[in-house]
Amino acid sequence: MNKKGFIFDLDGVIVDTAKYHFLAWKNLAKSIDIDFTKEQNEQLKGVSRVKSLEKILEWGNKTISEEQFTSLMGKKNEEYLSFIATMDDNEILPDVSKVLNYLIAQKQPISLGSASKNARPILEKVNLLSKFDAIVDGNDVSKAKPDPEVFLIAAKALNIKPEDCIVFEDSVAGVQAANTANMISIGIGEKEVLHEADYVFSDFTEMENSFIEELINR
Ligand code: G6P
Ligand code: MG
Repeated sequence: MNKKGFIFDLDGVIVDTAKYHFLAWKNLAKSIDIDFTKEQNEQLKGVSRVKSLEKILEWGNKTISEEQFTSLMGKKNEEYLSFIATMDDNEILPDVSKVLNYLIAQKQPISLGSASKNARPILEKVNLLSKFDAIVDGNDVSKAKPDPEVFLIAAKALNIKPEDCIVFEDSVAGVQAANTANMISIGIGEKEVLHEADYVFSDFTEMENSFIEELINR
């Protein structure tokens, strides 16, 4: 049987945590008098915590000390953790479990490929950790998306060549990372935003099993 590597981003693909990241960054930006828009937030999706704060400061034309930087990152994460504290499997995005179960039934290797350092506890909370053969997250990488590092490590962990991997992503940076890694990129979200992806679906309810089967057999 054909084997492909299926790599899932976490935030905004598996769970609806993108809204919590946005809220926490918005509150943080406000606390230092920086206006933060939804369009700017789009550019932070898939981007590491450090890089995100650097970008917000750049947009707000602010320089701060290293100490302040560390403290602000801590504050953002604290608020984010308070948002996700009560998460359960109700926050799994529509038909994600269906697709994961189908892939497992087809004996396809599955990895997480996320920039988040909170990935494992989130997957535990929503009871999905056991579905993954490998977890590659923000604790394993040194380069943020759009660098392909996270997906290349995931491919290695699954023992599948990059060109035989398929990436599900909701962020522009993540789609670019998948493309640079020479993988098939599948955008989950709006076509206009994710136009660089090989395919775009608004969510997993739009994805037929026959489409996944074609990916496995290509
Ligand atoms: C994901 C999200 C980003 C977030 C990053 C780091 O890629 O899309 O919005 O900044 O992970 O997440 P963390 O949980 O480590 O702050
Ligand atoms: Mg994401």
